[in-house]
Amino acid sequence: MRPRPSRLDRLPEQYFTALLARVAAAAAREGEPLVDLGRGNPDVGPPKHVVDALSSAARRSDTHGYAPFAGLPALKDAIAARYRKEYGVDVDPGTEVAVLPGSKTGLMEFAQVCVERGGAIVLPDPGYPDYLSAVALAGARHIPLPLVADGRPDWDAAPAKAAALYLNYPSNPVAASAPNGVYAEAVEWARQAGAWILHDFAYGDLVFDGRRPASFLAVEGAREAGLELFSMSKSYGMAGWRLGFALGNAELVARIEDLQNHQFAGVFMPVQEAGIAALNGPQDTVEERRALYESRRDRAVAALPGCEARGEGTFFVWFRLPEGLTCEQLLEEHRVAVAPGEGFGASGRGWARLSLATPDDRLDLGLERLARALQSR
Ligand SMILES: Cc1ncc(COP(=O)(O)O)c(C=O)c1O
Repeated sequence: MRPRPSRLDRLPEQYFTALLARVAAAAAREGEPLVDLGRGNPDVGPPKHVVDALSSAARRSDTHGYAPFAGLPALKDAIAARYRKEYGVDVDPGTEVAVLPGSKTGLMEFAQVCVERGGAIVLPDPGYPDYLSAVALAGARHIPLPLVADGRPDWDAAPAKAAALYLNYPSNPVAASAPNGVYAEAVEWARQAGAWILHDFAYGDLVFDGRRPASFLAVEGAREAGLELFSMSKSYGMAGWRLGFALGNAELVARIEDLQNHQFAGVFMPVQEAGIAALNGPQDTVEERRALYESRRDRAVAALPGCEARGEGTFFVWFRLPEGLTCEQLLEEHRVAVAPGEGFGASGRGWARLSLATPDDRLDLGLERLARALQSR
C-alpha cells in the first residue's frame, strides 16, 4: 500500500461538496422535484460585451500561449482604476495588485504566504468554510472569533496574539454589510496582535438599502495590515471564468506572485482580456445585478414572517430556524434545500442560509415551500 500523505488528512470535509451530494441524493428519491436554495452559484452570466471580448480574443492567434505569469498589466490597470472610481482607493497596479485564478485561490495563498506551520489564524464564526481549508493547507491552527448581532467580531473574544485574521464583508453566510468602524477596529487589533489581515470582498458590490460598497483598503493602516480580495464572480457573473485579485500590501502581493509563479502559469489571456472589458466597460449591469438580488432578498424576507432574518448584502439570506424545524426536515419533507448554519461554525447552529442566486420561478417555489414549512410549526 502506498501511504496517503498526512497533509491531506488535515483537510476538513469540503462543506459544499458534501451539501451538494446530500441534496443530489434527496433529489433522486421519489417526491416532488426538489428546489435547491442551498447553493450560491450566480444564475445570471456576464454582460454581452464581456462574452464578446472573450470570444474575439480567443479568435486571435496571439492569445493561446502562456500568459505573462503575473497577469496582463492592462488588467492590473483596469482593477486599479475601478478601485479609484468605485471605492475611492488608490492602489499601485505595478506593486499592489496580484491577478488570481479566482479569489478562492487567494484565500488559500494568503495563509501560505503569511503563516508558519502551527501558527494561529483567527476566523469569523459563522464564516465561509473555505477559510478552514486554507488553515489546514497551511498546516496552521484555527481560532474561531464569534460575530455579534451586527456582524462585527466580538473583539473581547479575540486572542492577544495571532498570525492572521480573515474578515468578510458583505459576509457569507450572515449577509451582514460592514458595520461602522469595523475595519479600523480590525487594523488596531491586528497591530497589537502582530497579525496580518485578509479582507474577503467577494460580494463587495452587492449591498442593499442604499448602502455604499465599502473597501477595507479605504481605512488608514489597511495597506500595512494586509490584503483585500476582489472577485469577478459576483459583480460580473463570471464565477466559472476564474478571475480575481489580491490588492494592498506590496510585500504580500509579491509573495503571492512568487507562489503563483511556482504553482500556476498565468490565467488564459482571453479571460484576462474579457476581465479588462468588464472592468473598463459600462457598469450598468453591476447595478442591475445588485438590484435583482435586492428584490429577491425582499421576497425571501417576506416569505419568512416571524423569523429572525438578515440580508444586508451578498446573495444570501441568513435566518434562524424555528424551534423543532431542521434543514434535514426541509430537505426530506418539504423538498427545499438550504445550507445548514452549523456548517459555517459553531455559532451557526440553529440557523440556515438560503441562496438568492436562483432563477425567479425556482426561488418563488422554494420560498413557498419554506413559508409552508414555517407555518406548519
Ligand atoms: C465568501 C466568499 N469568498 C470567496 C469566494 C470565492 O469566489 P471566487 O473564487 O469565485 O472569486 C466565495 C465564493 O462563493 C465566497 O462565497
